[in-house]
Amino acid sequence: MSNHIYLDHGASTPVHPQVIEKMLPFWTEHYGNPSSSHAHGRSANFALGEARRTVAGLMNAQPKEIVFTGCGSESDNLAVRGVMWAARQHGSGNHLITSVIEHEAVLETAVQLRDHFNFDVTILGVDEYGRVSVDDVAAAIRPDTALISVMAANNEIGTMQPIQQIGALAREHGILFHSDAVQAAATTRWDMQTMPLDLISFAPHKFYGPKGVGILYVREGVELVSSLTGGGQEDGRRSGTVNVAFAVGAAEAFKLAQDNLEAQVTHYTNLRDQLIAGVMTAVPANEIILTGHPTERLPHHASFALKNMSGNDLLIHLDMAGICASSGSACKTGDPKPSPILETIGLDPAWTKGGLRFTVGSQNTPDQIEHLIQAMPTVVEKVKKISQLFAI
Ligand SMILES: Cc1ncc(COP(=O)(O)O)c(C=O)c1O
Repeated sequence: MSNHIYLDHGASTPVHPQVIEKMLPFWTEHYGNPSSSHAHGRSANFALGEARRTVAGLMNAQPKEIVFTGCGSESDNLAVRGVMWAARQHGSGNHLITSVIEHEAVLETAVQLRDHFNFDVTILGVDEYGRVSVDDVAAAIRPDTALISVMAANNEIGTMQPIQQIGALAREHGILFHSDAVQAAATTRWDMQTMPLDLISFAPHKFYGPKGVGILYVREGVELVSSLTGGGQEDGRRSGTVNVAFAVGAAEAFKLAQDNLEAQVTHYTNLRDQLIAGVMTAVPANEIILTGHPTERLPHHASFALKNMSGNDLLIHLDMAGICASSGSACKTGDPKPSPILETIGLDPAWTKGGLRFTVGSQNTPDQIEHLIQAMPTVVEKVKKISQLFAI
């Protein structure tokens, strides 16, 4: 395992040793429930407050605007469902605008709101690069639109969305704007005093924090109806005893990411550009395309579609060559169906099963990328033979 080259940081990352060190005392020493009023509870509660202040400080936000959840999906669910339910309660809107390129955590929530709760939902299409058009958002706005939810960057094809412009438009119309920034959290500077966003979802396991914790930024004054009811933790927005160790780890990971942002972005961009150029020349030109936007893409993200090949077969053969990649979003690995994202950007069926994603991380080196580039022709030849046998 240890000598595999890991190029799947978009799925998850290792936990940074400094993050582990920060978390450890909260299992062994400061293990109290942060809601308890005794000494153990108070020390846990202080650490939770510190974590909240750290995240808020890095975003130029207020601590009370930070909610710790259980994962990125939960942050998305809480944002979208919470705002729409609150709008219904106040009679302030029944219409949600989102896009076809969203992660299922947003899209399935939108579909559930439409099909089971009678909300009106507009699902916008995207262009060939997977970009949502600001004009399309403008055209979809109605007097009863309560929320626009468009992701910061897509997990499968890496395309970044014009969230500044969409947010500005939402502001003009007095509509709340949520963005799923699970993939973009660590490579974007967040300044909530200037950015026109009202809710933002993060998942620390994508930036060297632990799995099992999510962060949701909720601008002061934005009301959410909680889906997880109970003891009223997190200011009534997410009941359940807060996982203090993970909140501390999430904050430390976010701090490391934001403190080292410029250097990391440069490192990622260099590796990504080497990878894209190398892979595009290692595979015959008529058998591979770069998917996603050529420039407006995540700095750590390279994604391709290979003609008449199965993404799953590519992954197996890459794995055998000592390389960990993904065929799209992590949740899709092992699924032999065509990628809905590749269909949505207009690729024809010859390409939609052959999605391949590499996401680089802080420990990757140019030599590792070179190893991948050298391995690609053999991997592709093997997969092509299998595909011809089974006529993909
Ligand atoms: C863009 C995006 N949103 C949401 C999620 C869900 O995050 P989590 O797996 O932490 O629930 C992911 C996970 O890959 C993602 O890439």
